[in-house]
Amino acid sequence: MYKIDHNLEQYLTENSTRLDPVLEELIRVTHLKTFNPRMISGPTQGKFLEFLCKMQNPQRILEIGTFTGFSTICMAKAISSSAKIDTIEINDELRDIIVDFLNKAGVSNKVNLHFGDANQIIPTLKNSYDLVFIDGDKRDYPNYYQLIFPLVKNGGFIIADNVLWNGKVLDQKSIDDQTVAIRKFNNIVQNDPMVDNILLPLRDGLMLIHKY
Ligand SMILES: C[S@@+](CC[C@H](N)C(=O)[O-])C[C@H]1O[C@@H](n2cnc3c(N)ncnc32)[C@H](O)[C@@H]1O
Repeated sequence: MYKIDHNLEQYLTENSTRLDPVLEELIRVTHLKTFNPRMISGPTQGKFLEFLCKMQNPQRILEIGTFTGFSTICMAKAISSSAKIDTIEINDELRDIIVDFLNKAGVSNKVNLHFGDANQIIPTLKNSYDLVFIDGDKRDYPNYYQLIFPLVKNGGFIIADNVLWNGKVLDQKSIDDQTVAIRKFNNIVQNDPMVDNILLPLRDGLMLIHKY
C-alpha cells in the first residue's frame, strides 16, 4: 500500500533548492509549539507550490487551512507584489505564529488572514481566484469543492492536499470519516466534466485540477 516514504522525502529535499531560512525556522517552531506538527506541508511540497505559483503567476489565491503559515509563505514569496492570498484558518490560537512569520518572511502585505470556519467564510468572499489550495478538514473536502468552484476563474487551478491520506484511500477496509470523504472528493473531481485533473503521488498526494 502507498505510504509516505520519509527516506525518499529526505532525498528529494536534499536535491532541491534549500528552503528560505525563515521557512526552516517556521518548521522548527511548528514542531516546538503545535500539537500536530506533521500537518505542515514540508520542504518538497512547499517548493512545489512555490514553483506552481512562479509558473502560473496567479493574481488571487485562496487557501483553506493556514496552520502555521508555511504554504501561505511559500506561495506568497513566489507571486508578484500586486497579487494577494486569502487564507482561512479555524484555529485562532495559531494567530501569533502566523502573524510573526508572515512579517519575518516580508509577505504580510500580500496576505489577508481570515479566522473562522471556511464553510462559513467562503460564501462571504467577494473575489474570484486563479488558484485555490485546499488543505483544511479532510471531511469537508467535498463541501469545500462545491463552495469554491464558482469562485475559481475559468482557466484557474485548484490544488488539494492529502488526497492519498497515507494510502488509506486504497485500502477498502479504511472507512473512517476522513478516508471516506477524500475518496468521495477524488471521485467528484474525476467525474467533473468541467475540469481536467491529475493526482500526483507527491508526499501525501496532491490533486491538481484545471477548470475549463
Ligand atoms: C493540514 S493543516 C494546513 C497546513 C498548511 N496548509 C501548511 O501547508 O503548512 C490543516 C489546517 O486546517 C485547519 N482547518 C480545519 N478545518 C478548518 C475549517 N473548517 N476552516 C478553516 N480551517 C480549518 C486546521 O486548524 C489546520 O490548521
